[in-house]
Amino acid sequence: MCSVVGYIGQRQSCALVMEGLARLEYRGYDSSGFACVDNETRRLMSAKSAGRLSQLVTRLQEKPIDGTVGVGHTRWSTHGVASEANAHPHFDCTKKISLVHNGIIENYLTLKKELEAEGHVFLSQTDSEVIAHLFERAFEQTKSCKKAVMQLVSQLHGAYAVVIVMEEHPELLIGIRKSSPLCIGVGDGEMFIASDVLAFAGKTDRVSFLPEKTFTLVTKDKAAVYDFDGQLLDLPVEKLDSVWTATEKQGHEHYMLKEIYEQKSAIYKTVSLCQSFGESVWNSIGISADLIKNTKRIKIIGCGTSWHAGRIAEFFFEEITRIPTTAVLASEFRYRTFFPELDTLYIAISQSGETADTLEVVRMLNAHGQKVLALTNVASSTLVRESEGFLLTQAGPELAVASTKAFTTQVAALYWLAARMALERTVISDGQFKQCQEELLMTANILENGLDAYKYQIFEKLALFYSNFSAFIFLGRHSTYPFALEAALKLKEIAYVFAQAYPAGELKHGPIALIDEKTPVCLFSHPDPLIYQKLLSNAQEIKARKGHLIVFAFEGQTELQALADTCLMFPAVNSHLAVLSMTGVMQLFMYAIARARGCDIDRPRNLAKSVTVE
Ligand code: G6P
Repeated sequence: MCSVVGYIGQRQSCALVMEGLARLEYRGYDSSGFACVDNETRRLMSAKSAGRLSQLVTRLQEKPIDGTVGVGHTRWSTHGVASEANAHPHFDCTKKISLVHNGIIENYLTLKKELEAEGHVFLSQTDSEVIAHLFERAFEQTKSCKKAVMQLVSQLHGAYAVVIVMEEHPELLIGIRKSSPLCIGVGDGEMFIASDVLAFAGKTDRVSFLPEKTFTLVTKDKAAVYDFDGQLLDLPVEKLDSVWTATEKQGHEHYMLKEIYEQKSAIYKTVSLCQSFGESVWNSIGISADLIKNTKRIKIIGCGTSWHAGRIAEFFFEEITRIPTTAVLASEFRYRTFFPELDTLYIAISQSGETADTLEVVRMLNAHGQKVLALTNVASSTLVRESEGFLLTQAGPELAVASTKAFTTQVAALYWLAARMALERTVISDGQFKQCQEELLMTANILENGLDAYKYQIFEKLALFYSNFSAFIFLGRHSTYPFALEAALKLKEIAYVFAQAYPAGELKHGPIALIDEKTPVCLFSHPDPLIYQKLLSNAQEIKARKGHLIVFAFEGQTELQALADTCLMFPAVNSHLAVLSMTGVMQLFMYAIARARGCDIDRPRNLAKSVTVE
């Protein structure tokens, strides 16, 4: 999504803000801008550009502006195309107030009409610009920054993280937060404000997270934080975890590749955290042992890749824990009839912990007194703060837009949780639980070994051949069907190739009409002998129609291997962990196709890493 970054202090803001924006560019990147109170003119100056941040950098090199207070923004368009006019910062009529915004102002049209009737002139198609004009009016009426913010927020509907710089108050940065994250980096004689700590990680290790519906008036030495009624709040300053500062590519061509290779270690760290809870696991997670023992149903909520992890985990909870489980898409669930059930455990999965669709469901569940366990990668996220309990994956920062290690750590954590709940409910023994943990780590090794075993074949042969096709079908059954959904999503996201995932058994009910030599079918097998037999029949149906077949199979599945045009083999594992063992190679394969097609892998077009609007 959009990123906002602000700086105030003794140093020049431009380089610091631009560095922060570059680190957050993965969140949204179709246009960008910077504004500061210029050193020389003491006037508010700005530079904006459509396209990538590098274009703004060039513009700033050609025509530098700088000052000790500044704000910047990278945009992921919601209202209005990606153009220079629509890029932030936006200004009021007098050009003395500039602001950047992440979120959506739902009543912007009504406000815009009202302001236009009063003579305000708008230069963009964005919802964000109304905030600048509203603030102009509020400041004119109140002559006080604090009162103007309070008046402003009483008129805005929607979600917003806003940072304001004013020509009249160069000693001040204003930050406002409602439903979109904003945090303050506390330095020595300098302050940062940003939508994500990554923006200032390494510059300071002290951070305060603005709570929901609050605003802050930040000087270079102090951040005063208020609620929307103007009450001063005492906000703790926390120490930033150093792992979040390690953001280099470390010799890899892309972040995505680096992150694919970090998966074994990320799974190990996640399992090790889970094991460290010991007997006090439910206290540590924040969900009562009673609920764990009495849960009759589990509902998992998520979007995108996180939803796929949830769909895979349906099989863990049903088959290991013996609890009926459904994974639902947050954006759909939110608008269905809701039946409160107190013996249901809700698990909300989100890598970022900031996805608006998921958060809205959590808020709705909270309002009904339901218990939500958050599974996320970001300890400081809104999801953690708003959920009853939380379990943290240990993937570390994931910067490529396409999720890899966040996905595998989610799957690993869910598998561990299913087994631990099964132990608590005496469905499995202590010995079986230990075996589950060992198998999980063993599977992380298999995942990594697969990368080494197949990298040359994938890069030097398969990617070159398969990058020429314009559509793919992905098939799976049981847990390999949601895995097929994830594979198809990866290919669509990073290679811009149309891909359709189907449950293999459904092939004959329509999609089989698509089978021909021009549309490769990638079939993900399953170690379970019964499911394997069914998949084998599906593979035969494809070959009988001259389809081109790529197969991910398990040792001993020789009949399937014989049918395949391309076959990638994996060691036989515990059937629940089959998908995890294939994940690295699947991701590498999709990555290599995107690379062969010359795609911008870490920053695919039209996407954003975390989508903080509904
Ligand atoms: C965006 C990203 C996806 C991600 C989804 C959910 O759509 O492009 O890669 O899976 O958001 O994100 P979350 O942070 O909630 O897991």
